[in-house]
Amino acid sequence: MKAPVETITETELGLNLYARGKVRDVYSVGEHLLVVATDRISAFDHVLATGIPGKGKVLTQLSLFWFDFLKAVVPNHLITADIDQYPADLRAHFAELEGRSMLVKRARMFPVECVVRGYLSGSGWKDYRASGSICGIPLPSGIREAGKLPEPIFTPATKSQDGEHDENISFDEMAARIGKSNAEDLQSLSLSIYRKAADYAAERGLILADTKLEFGVHAEGIILADEVLTPDSSRFWPEDQYEPGRAQSSFDKQYVRDYLESIRWNKQAPAPALPDEVVTRTQQKYLEAFRLLTGKSLVL
Ligand SMILES: Nc1ncnc2c1ncn2[C@@H]1O[C@H](COP(=O)(O)OP(=O)(O)OP(=O)(O)O)[C@@H](O)[C@H]1O
Ligand SMILES: [Mg+2]
Repeated sequence: MKAPVETITETELGLNLYARGKVRDVYSVGEHLLVVATDRISAFDHVLATGIPGKGKVLTQLSLFWFDFLKAVVPNHLITADIDQYPADLRAHFAELEGRSMLVKRARMFPVECVVRGYLSGSGWKDYRASGSICGIPLPSGIREAGKLPEPIFTPATKSQDGEHDENISFDEMAARIGKSNAEDLQSLSLSIYRKAADYAAERGLILADTKLEFGVHAEGIILADEVLTPDSSRFWPEDQYEPGRAQSSFDKQYVRDYLESIRWNKQAPAPALPDEVVTRTQQKYLEAFRLLTGKSLVL
């Protein structure tokens, strides 16, 4: 029988911890960073008590695929994900790091989330319904939930601090925070990335409804950092099931959110644990997203 897939929800590598995000544990390694995607899963801005076995590997492998795919459009933070090229003092942790980590350039991160939307969903749909616009961008009336926008739009948001929600901001607000020239560069890079990825996804039967990107500055200029075009940062919808006018099923935390709604969790800490059935189906969804996008199966 195949060994069960290990679930790693927290790492303790005995290194200098740089940051612990909702999903990633980030360590300082010399002048670089070691980004370890754990199997933690968050929903409604809370990390849940149960992890999804192998999820961190799916996110890492998918980000690696996209970093490579996009390298002509934008430089990125990756140095290597090959553990044999990691500094020798990380050797004791290789088993834990393999497949779910990347050695990256440490960037000065811009304190904004760069979101591009081609379709109306999530907070974009909410804002549109309330005001007819998103991030100050007026949109034609009469677009339905999950409807396609006339063209992709750049809708930045603040990066939430612990426990708070991201807040959509206008381009001018973003420019006031990081400077106009940086804001213009991030907008243009984000739209190029979205277009290229959405065209590719369409060839594979998937709609890229929206995506969130994070950029930073390194010696050579602006680089794409964190994760890219994963089910945690993007909405992918199967084209053959697409039907505007309702919420779409996607490859993210659908089952998790549905389950949490069904038990009427009040969305306050502590977040509940997930039943095995929800864990298994969620794991399958992440693996399916990887397979559909890359054409390869990931063995966990
Ligand atoms: N190359 C890099 N240099 C510096 N910081 C980075 C780099 N890549 C990622 N980070 C930061 O490391 C952290 C990764 O944690 P994680 O992805 O779990 O994020 P989070 O901010 O908690 O949540 P979310 O990504 O869902 O908004 C983030 O704060 C991210 O900005
Ligand atoms: Mg992140």
